[in-house]
Amino acid sequence: MIHQPFCLKAALKCLEIGFALALLGASLNAGAMEEGSEGGWRLGVVKPSPPPIVPEDERGNVHGSHPLLVVERSSGNRSEESVNTVTFLPESLVHYDPGLANTAECKSSITYIDGEVGILRYRGYAIEDLARNSHFLETAYLLIYGKLPTEAALHTFIQRILGVEPLLEPLSAMLSAFKPSADPMKMLAALLLALGSHLEIAAGDYDALWLQLLGNMPPLAAMAYHRMQGTNMPALTNPNSDYVGLFLQRLLGHEFSPEVVKALDLIFLLHADHEQNCSTSTLRMIGSSKADVFMSIVGAIGALSGPLHGGANQAVITMLEALAAQVTLEKPIEAVVAEFISAVKNKERLLMGFGHRVYKNYDPRATQLKAMLPQVLEALRQAEDPLLKIALLLEGIALEDEYFIKRKLYPNVDFYSGLVFKALGINPRFYPVLFAIGRLPGWVAHYWEQLQDPQQRICRPQQVYTGEGLRHYPEDTSGVSELAPFKALL
Ligand code: SDX
Repeated sequence: MIHQPFCLKAALKCLEIGFALALLGASLNAGAMEEGSEGGWRLGVVKPSPPPIVPEDERGNVHGSHPLLVVERSSGNRSEESVNTVTFLPESLVHYDPGLANTAECKSSITYIDGEVGILRYRGYAIEDLARNSHFLETAYLLIYGKLPTEAALHTFIQRILGVEPLLEPLSAMLSAFKPSADPMKMLAALLLALGSHLEIAAGDYDALWLQLLGNMPPLAAMAYHRMQGTNMPALTNPNSDYVGLFLQRLLGHEFSPEVVKALDLIFLLHADHEQNCSTSTLRMIGSSKADVFMSIVGAIGALSGPLHGGANQAVITMLEALAAQVTLEKPIEAVVAEFISAVKNKERLLMGFGHRVYKNYDPRATQLKAMLPQVLEALRQAEDPLLKIALLLEGIALEDEYFIKRKLYPNVDFYSGLVFKALGINPRFYPVLFAIGRLPGWVAHYWEQLQDPQQRICRPQQVYTGEGLRHYPEDTSGVSELAPFKALL
């Protein structure tokens, strides 16, 4: 072990950092590489010509550096190839991007979002177009297979999903391991892992796998709901109902009007995918190790359960109910909301259902949800729901207030969805599970896309180490008090 004098080591370190920064500066300025005389890539001076397209298989390190691909976010138009500008970073430097807000981990053709202007497209179709003309299972087909189905293909797809005999019996026993107070997302995760062990599907028959997942998800979710409620799943009153109608019968024990079924179908459609959100990118991370789709979906369910993500729909209702509970004759709702907004601006509270990592404009899904609310609440005889009044008050104030405008905080998909679920009489603890049912087609589509992507590698990010430097185990531990008890054991 060569212990260089500290000053020499520091000098060498400065030289290394200086060289690295010079290299980085050169490469960032250069923005382009020159073909080196020896044929390898070397950092060059800026050239007016467009940056070279690095051959996709150019992964190797070049002279102890590694490529940092800076890629233009496509404009959502498939015909435009994204332009790669390659910058090589010395080994000692990494791109540090907490929360991966500016990092593309993969290429995907499933969903396109332009958060600045509030665009959301599934396989190129605008969410408004699909909300108006499509329905959840047709959109699920679109996301998974990349195109809208023919009428015959759609009919077969739906019939095969409805024909899935949900494995309620063998799986119901495991729910007794959960206390009713347990998080139903945990119950759902366990049920899906057990489901995987019961399915006998030929290797490679992914269509059958997707159908089993789509067919089992709602009944298994309903089973978790009844475990949570301490009730039994009711028998179907109309077994010939559609996908969402059957789910509502299993969940709440009776049929609902077509408007209500259509509203929940639309909510599932609006949740069906959202590119690399926390849970979907978790699914891809797990799937990148070639783990199976059940393990990948269960990881996604874990990520989705957090209150900053899929748990927000439940958190919105909890927030609205807490505000409603403060209203008295002396303190009208306007005063309660004003007090809450100032607490948010003082960073004491979050306005749940507001803000988004990508949307810096109104979430187009929230627009759809808000538009459907009056009719659905009317159909459920909940038009006078006081929580809706509070939600509209909060939104009205936030959209006018500089604090929210400056931070581009708008309602997101979770701000209104909980109001529909509440009007249906569903326990708020279950709302993240409803999000998961809607998101399943997107998870399947991303798992399937990644599985077929020859360029995809196991996901293994770097880190910035902030721990101790090299330390040596003390020869004499007598003076090291915390080790003393253990030494006595040796
Ligand atoms: C979903 O990614 C997806 O696509 C997710 C999703 C999907 O379909 O999969 O769209 C579903 O998860 C929607 C988001 C649901 N979550 C919530 O509604 C929870 C409340 N929202 C926040 O927690 C927050 O807005 C996030 C988590 C959604 C986004 O967080 P970011 O991008 O990390 O933003 P940030 O925390 O850096 O906030 C920027 C500023 C901060 O203020 P400053 O430090 O600049 O002064 O905005 C503030 C934040 O304090 N801010 C909020 C706020 N959200 C952000 N202030 C009050 N209330 C909020 N809700």
